[in-house]
Amino acid sequence: MKEKIEQLAALNHQAELGGGEDRIAKQHAAGKLTARERIELLLEKGSFVEVDKFVTHRCTEFGLEKQRPLGDGVVTGYGLIGKRTVFVFAQDFTVFGGALSETYARKICKIMDMAMQLGAPVIGLNDSGGARIQEGVRSLAGYAEIFLRNSLASGVIPQISAIMGPCAGGAVYSPALTDFIFMVKDSSYMFITGPEVVKSVTQEEVTMQDLGGSEVHSSRSGVAHFTGDNDMDCILKIRELMSFLPSNNMEEPPFIPTTDSANRIDEQLNNLIPTNPNQPYDMKELIESVADDHNFFEVQEEYAKNIVIGYIRLNGKTIGVVANQPAALAGTLDINASVKAARFVRFCDAFNIPLLTLVDVPGFLPGVNQEYEGIIRHGAKLLYAYCEATVPKVTVITRKAYGGAYDVMSSKHIRGDINFAYPTAEIAVMGPDGAVNILFRKELKKAEDVEKKRKELQDDYREKFANPYRAAELGYVDEIIEPSGTRARLIRSFELLANKRQSNPPKKHSNLPL
Ligand code: COA
Repeated sequence: MKEKIEQLAALNHQAELGGGEDRIAKQHAAGKLTARERIELLLEKGSFVEVDKFVTHRCTEFGLEKQRPLGDGVVTGYGLIGKRTVFVFAQDFTVFGGALSETYARKICKIMDMAMQLGAPVIGLNDSGGARIQEGVRSLAGYAEIFLRNSLASGVIPQISAIMGPCAGGAVYSPALTDFIFMVKDSSYMFITGPEVVKSVTQEEVTMQDLGGSEVHSSRSGVAHFTGDNDMDCILKIRELMSFLPSNNMEEPPFIPTTDSANRIDEQLNNLIPTNPNQPYDMKELIESVADDHNFFEVQEEYAKNIVIGYIRLNGKTIGVVANQPAALAGTLDINASVKAARFVRFCDAFNIPLLTLVDVPGFLPGVNQEYEGIIRHGAKLLYAYCEATVPKVTVITRKAYGGAYDVMSSKHIRGDINFAYPTAEIAVMGPDGAVNILFRKELKKAEDVEKKRKELQDDYREKFANPYRAAELGYVDEIIEPSGTRARLIRSFELLANKRQSNPPKKHSNLPL
């Protein structure tokens, strides 16, 4: 028996060495942690249970039959974050560059199937040269098996991808199908085809980082949701995100008690909205002011800054926040902002996370480019997402709610449950400047002093329409509130709505405008 136990220990040791000490040293020299070190950091100490540690590939070509490392380049299993189970796979770049084989894919599929059955999230730590070239179509089949599971698990369990090294070609599509993508600054990249192929096809010269580094994907393409400064920072961010999410679509998000008073008043909020309606302010100040302990976990911070999305807690409960940002593009809705917010709203709705919408929107962004790129189609995504959402929805109009954008931003008409407005709210078809130019074109032409007349007409319009009272008369806002008491009103509202039950008509699935 002793011998057998020693044999097991030796095999365990061998498996844990992955591609060997030299390659581990190389991984460290590149500023990266190994697959196992990453898992150690991600999960509660000692909670990791490995599955399929001794699986090996079955390839007999290109001399691979002589190289059959235990585990085959991916570490899979489960463990705890907080007190909750998560499933995890970590690609091991020290073994065949982390390249994916048939058996490697099976290992990932096995834990994905378990996660689906048990209702636990899956976290994938990606660091791989892609499909294992020697295995040909078998490795492509492996990817497809994973893609299928990603799609079926979507909306059932949260799926998180961290890109912590290369992720190229078909390999990008598993992360792309998951809910949140994390990247690591300087050491990770994602692209469909690398710089060499790009050069041969389009003659463009570009570095790996400029083509698919974390900066590109967090600020330009919108592919990545979070960036870590290094592996450790990235993993800590994943843990923080998990603290806001339920384990599956049948559960409520976790409750994290707070000492922050539910009745906390913030007098400074009464001065947040500038008197001049064209002056910007930072909507994040409002979000941080109302949040438990002023803690706002922002998603896609660097992308489409004209809309802000992320998580806060209100009296311990997770709330998804969508807020126009007057400090960027005057808070207009453009294509990127619409798509960013739409996906967030749909994630929250799928996972029982109530939505808080903060509105200061002068409308959709005008422009030839926006029209040509399909703002109609993309803007419809956000409208659709809000219409479809059945989670509790509370809206606060802080200032402008103009035109179609008023309807879109969780208005009463599309099943906003509780809609507040500040006394500074302006709810109308458009702002005074535009409205006067259209309505009074003839009068302005005839006027002796055009500017004086224009100002008179604008003041008149402002008095009539640039306020929340018309909407309040019609019941389109439920209450006009003093900004300083926003936190208490929101907490009360979400508590009221906690047992909300609403459903949509049965259907195979919807036809979201794509
Ligand atoms: N299939 C099989 N083996 C692979 C592989 C793949 N897709 N990608 C990398 N490897 C192997 C390399 O042959 C090398 O093995 P060796 O050390 O025994 O020689 C090892 O993994 C490390 O790769 P290396 O190229 O030395 O690392 P790097 O950090 O210099 O470069 C990549 C990393 C990912 C840029 C590079 O390996 C690469 O371009 N791989 C192919 C990517 C690709 O096109 N994949 C198919 C897309 S689906």
